[in-house]
This record gives sequence, structure tokens and C-alpha cells, in this order.
Amino acid sequence: MPYAHITGWGISVPEPVLTNDDLAKMVDTNDQWIRERTGIRERHIAREDQFPSTLGVEASLKALEVANLAPTDIDLIICTSSSPEYIWPPTACLIQDQIGATKAGAFDIQAVCTGFIFATNMAAQSIRSGAIKNALIIGTETLSRFMNWKDRSTCILFGDGAGAFVLQASDKPGGILSAVMHSDGSGADTLILPGGGARFPANETTVHENKHFVQMDGKAVFRFATRVMGYAAKEALDLAGMTTDDVQWIVPHQANYRIIETAAKYLKMPMDKFVINVERYGNTSTASIPIATVEAVQKGMIKNGDKIVLVGFGGGLTWGALVAEWTGPIPSPKLHVRPTRYRLFARIRSWLLRAVRYIEGVLSRREL
Ligand SMILES: CC(C)(COP(=O)(O)OP(=O)(O)OC[C@H]1O[C@@H](n2cnc3c(N)ncnc32)[C@H](O)[C@@H]1OP(=O)(O)O)[C@@H](O)C(=O)NCCC(=O)NCCS
Repeated sequence: MPYAHITGWGISVPEPVLTNDDLAKMVDTNDQWIRERTGIRERHIAREDQFPSTLGVEASLKALEVANLAPTDIDLIICTSSSPEYIWPPTACLIQDQIGATKAGAFDIQAVCTGFIFATNMAAQSIRSGAIKNALIIGTETLSRFMNWKDRSTCILFGDGAGAFVLQASDKPGGILSAVMHSDGSGADTLILPGGGARFPANETTVHENKHFVQMDGKAVFRFATRVMGYAAKEALDLAGMTTDDVQWIVPHQANYRIIETAAKYLKMPMDKFVINVERYGNTSTASIPIATVEAVQKGMIKNGDKIVLVGFGGGLTWGALVAEWTGPIPSPKLHVRPTRYRLFARIRSWLLRAVRYIEGVLSRREL
């Protein structure tokens, strides 16, 4: 049975930064309160012309470059987002088109902030089954579009960004070693974006009632998160036949420093084994785990051979964890692939397909 290795990684974070002091000019809050209660100092906010697909494409191309893999070699793209570009079509398809992943099946997984864990596990299972060889997983957010910038209990928490992994099959042991996924829909209303779906289709009332903004029972989510995070990490470790002593790094979902501290206490692990960057990004939902992982790799903290645990929680309610052995790109004699070069080809291909569809439409109208 092949193993599913993480062989490529990339992130894309919009440049504009919104500090706590900036927020204090918008709502009744202050830097000290936000830092003490959450650990967040600033977050990045997408420009008007940046969307989940824009950030997702940038992160994907970087991940493919690290893996030295052409977009045309990808079999499967799974995107996960709490702020998808549309209800449908899937953001994964927009990314597939823009990077020129001509043979990939592409779809979205919705598991809110746990999405990246679920998506990585699903892609790893497809590789382990032998069904596919190369997968691209993306967590991408412009959650700032769904924030009520007058609600200080939510708008201080979230930020925008994207992260991507390439997963590849290899006979060499390593890669994703175990994973657990959990859900509790009885807590669906504790963290919810209620408007725009079939229950509350967009209309004047839903706009008036702020139903198109993230709504949250912060205390309930806090209690839930502190209960499940350490437990899920331990469960995934048990499944891999490992203990916390075998692990070099824990990469938790970056929602709140205090939640991470509670998980560390539960696991009886020092905080310096946790990768934490919540102070600079806030909660980037599905993108938070890959952004933290990629930064830790780039800083030389996570090294080849390290055992790591990725652990997340979020709306749904959902939570999960996975254990991985970090192995890096698969060595290959192949020439250096430049995935960005495929973008021109992807644009032309997309344009031609649209043109053919248009001409087909005109011709079929004549036939009728
Ligand atoms: C949101 C959260 C930071 C609030 O922290 P808290 O310690 O529970 O704070 P409370 O809601 O009890 O509020 C305490 C006080 O601060 C006030 N307050 C709330 N938000 C504030 C803000 N941004 N700035 C200043 N004061 C604020 C409250 O009104 C309250 O005032 P009161 O005591 O006069 O009523 C915390 O509950 C949390 O992190 N929850 C988890 C959220 C999360 O991670 N969501 C995403 C999951 S993927």
C-alpha cells in the first residue's frame, strides 16, 4: 500500500495588515484586551480584487514548485474554505482552471476551520487506496468579507490567507501516519454563517438581520475547543502507535493563544513544542494550519524526519487531528518544473473552452 507524503507546500497572505489599534478606531476595543484574551496583534485583510481562488492559486503554485510537480500531473484537488468564492461552483474548480490542472477532479470540502485536516485526510486516503498518485489540498479564506465590522466579539478574531499542500504517493514509509475526524452537529448554531443558504436565502430581511455575517457564541466555542483539541491530538497519536514523546511539533489551529495553552496542559507538553503564529494572522480558519506549518518549515523548525501533529476545531461543530512524518519533496532526476509557466497555457485553454462553448451555443440555437 503506498504512503501519502507531504511533498510540497505554499502560502499566500494578502499584504494589507489590520492592527489591533486600527480595529480600536472601528469598534469599542483596544490592543491590550485583544492581546490578553486572544494573543492576536494583527491580521491580514484581502484587497478588493483578491478572492479565495486568487490566494488559493498563489499558494498552490508555490506548493507545486516545492514538489517539482506540474499542474497537469495532479489527479485530485480538494479545496476547503469557510468563505468560499460562491456557494457553488466549488472554489477548487476555479483554482483547477487557473493553474491548468487539466486532468484533476476538483471539489470542495466544508468542515469550517477543521477543513484542512479533513481534506488532507481524504486526499491521503485516496492515495493510500492506490486510486490516485498526486493531490493538491488548499485552505483559502477571505473571511473578512463575512465579518460584521461593528461586532467587536467576532471581527477582532479573523484574518485572510491561504495555504496549500501537495500530497504524493510513495513506497517509502512516512507521510500521513494517522488521522481522526469528529463532528457534533448539535452545536451547529454556536458558530454559524446563517444567511445565503436554503434556510435563509438572501433578501432584505436577511441583510437587515446581519445573517450574512459570522455569528458566534464565543464562550461556548472556547469551552468546546479547549475540551477537544488535546484529546484529538492524543487520539491520533494513539492510532499511530505513538506518544507525545515521539513528536517534535504540534501545529494547532490558530484561533486563540489561550486555547492552545489549554491543549498544551492537557498533553503535558511545553509551549515551545507548539507552532504558534496567531499573533500575526489571527484566525485564518481553513488556512491557519497550513500557514503555520509552512512558516515553521521555512524557519527551519520542522525538518525532514520530524513527526508532527496537526490539530484543528471549528464550526459544525467539527474537530480532528492527524499525525505526519515530514519527509519533504520526493527526490527525482526530473528537470526543475516551473508551475507558474503553466498559467499562460491555463488562461489560453480556459479562454478557448469558453469560446467553444459560446460558438456551440450559437450553432445549436441556429439548429433549433
Ligand atoms: C471571543 C473571546 C476572545 C471572548 O473572550 P472572553 O474572555 O470569553 O470574553 P467575554 O465574551 O466574556 O467578554 C468579557 C468582557 O469583554 C467585553 N468584550 C467582548 N469583546 C470585546 C472586545 N473585542 N474588546 C473589548 N471588550 C470586549 C465583553 O462585552 C465583556 O464585557 P462585560 O464583562 O462588561 O460584559 C473568547 O470567548 C474566544 O476566544 N472564544 C473562542 C472563539 C473562537 O476561537 N472562534 C473560532 C473557532 S474556529
